[in-house]
Amino acid sequence: MSSMTGMALQKRLLLGLLVVSSVLFVYVLCVNVEGPLSWSIMPLRFSQVLRSDSQDSEEPLDRQINSDQRTHPPPVSTRTVPHEHTRATHTPTLKTQTSTAAGHKPAEEKVPDVSKSSSGSDAVDKAKTRTRTSTKGPTMQPRRPTQAPGPTEPPFIGDTYMSDNVPPQTDCPDGIRSRVAKTDFGGRFLKNIPVLQWANHTTREQHQRLSKYPGAHGWGGIDYKTLVETLSVLNSSANRQMLDDWENHSNGSECIRCAVVGNGGILKDSKKGKEIDGHDYVFRTNGAIIKGFEQDVGSRTTHYTFSTNTLMNSMRSYAGVGYKGPPLSEETRYIFLPDHDRDYLLMKAAATHTPVERGNERGKDPSKYFGKDVSARKLKMYHPDFIRYLRNRFLRSKALKTKYKDIYRPSTGATMLLAALHTCDQVSAYGFMTPDYKNYSDHYYDRSYHSVGFFINHDLRMEMTLWQQLHQAGLIQLYMHK
Ligand SMILES: *[C@@H]1O[C@H](CO)[C@@H](O)[C@H](O)[C@H]1NC(C)=O
Ligand SMILES: *[C@@H]1O[C@H](CO)[C@@H](O)[C@H](O)[C@H]1NC(C)=O
Ligand SMILES: *[C@@H]1O[C@H](CO)[C@@H](O)[C@H](O)[C@H]1NC(C)=O
Ligand SMILES: *[C@@H]1O[C@H](CO)[C@@H](O)[C@H](O)[C@H]1NC(C)=O
Ligand SMILES: *[C@@H]1O[C@H](CO)[C@@H](O)[C@H](O)[C@H]1NC(C)=O
Repeated sequence: MSSMTGMALQKRLLLGLLVVSSVLFVYVLCVNVEGPLSWSIMPLRFSQVLRSDSQDSEEPLDRQINSDQRTHPPPVSTRTVPHEHTRATHTPTLKTQTSTAAGHKPAEEKVPDVSKSSSGSDAVDKAKTRTRTSTKGPTMQPRRPTQAPGPTEPPFIGDTYMSDNVPPQTDCPDGIRSRVAKTDFGGRFLKNIPVLQWANHTTREQHQRLSKYPGAHGWGGIDYKTLVETLSVLNSSANRQMLDDWENHSNGSECIRCAVVGNGGILKDSKKGKEIDGHDYVFRTNGAIIKGFEQDVGSRTTHYTFSTNTLMNSMRSYAGVGYKGPPLSEETRYIFLPDHDRDYLLMKAAATHTPVERGNERGKDPSKYFGKDVSARKLKMYHPDFIRYLRNRFLRSKALKTKYKDIYRPSTGATMLLAALHTCDQVSAYGFMTPDYKNYSDHYYDRSYHSVGFFINHDLRMEMTLWQQLHQAGLIQLYMHK
């Protein structure tokens, strides 16, 4: 009798164990397929961005991704939202990040809602847990979600990045990297994201991983041979460091102060030139015309950001108002935003002082753009992981839920400003879009008023909201003409 009850008990225990372990198994499965951002709850309200202007856009150059792939959006008549900027509704969402590299504890923080419209309070951009480990050299950050099961996100997002240990150049006590943890941006900011790519990043494994992402977000469509041949010229420490000559710049200063200059009409008559030039570094982009505008925009350029496409378009579109090409000076560095193999090929040609070997720019002499004296040390190229990270974590536009997802990317100016945020200790931003953008012409060098245009390949309103949030968080100082 007693042995019978004993057996029954054993059976029951076994059954219980089985149930518990299968529940656990299912739970683990769910947790593992969870993405860091709740993808499915982002409502599709893209029509807001689909306003087409016949005028120039803030960055008309990026409009054209390929000659055959124009990105004029279909005009929207009924659902155009008011353009007046309303402060984004801050939807509190939980977000944590364990960053062993940064040595700070997981923190529960509010994440600013990056929805841009006044009526878009239902657009919640929710970020979840991310764990980041850091070892020497390029490593992958493992995903270790620790929250309840949620919807998956599509594979093209790829919110997992290489980690690169470029040691900090200063011990600035209140630099951005130390302040960011205390802000709403702490959870999404990765201190060891590779901002720049260089020779040592080209491995078969990395090629296999990044080939999944097209355009600026990966190496999709670029064969391994081309990649090795082109990136191998970026083989010095200057190529992997944004502010490679700080030792010659610092003059005893503890912190690196950067001015990032967009081309917005707000700079016209601003008289900010001296202030801009007074920074340690001055970043500019695309059709940055300096001659004749020094009082308002300054005259130095230490970092010039462009893609081959935007550069060629700038030379075409702004020749009439005085744009002759990238700024040329002893201190100028050139940072390619690689959208296409065109960028890799032009970069190699510039580094080796040879004509571009093939593609759209075939036969072109790079000294026409970067001067005769440019050396490989002065060339840099954004890492596709960095661009994808910016898109996923700072500028996750609703465009990604549309058929335009492959041509959407952060604008060149946004990439430049966010790159400075990840490499400088202090950032002042000038000439970026502000809520009263309608009061200013598209560019500071426009001869007559041109309204800002909105196109599907960028989300300028979302970027404008981000600048406001970064300014309010004290991470950048945004010039607002007030
Ligand atoms: C880059 O690769 C070269 C050649 O393989 C190697 O000698 C060098 O140590 C590497 N540099 C870094 C910083 O990993
Ligand atoms: C970098 O590449 C150039 C050729 O592109 C080569 O002459 C030079 O020795 C390389 N330097 C290093 C440190 O590998
Ligand atoms: C610093 O300046 C010296 C002298 O002009 C120069 O030789 C050296 O290459 C510079 N260093 C960097 C990192 O630019
Ligand atoms: C370096 O610092 C000294 C003392 O603060 C200052 O007088 C000098 O003008 C600075 N030099 C440069 C090049 O900024
Ligand atoms: C901007 O324009 C609005 C009207 O469109 C006007 O009320 C406001 O005063 C202007 N602001 C500035 C700074 O010019």
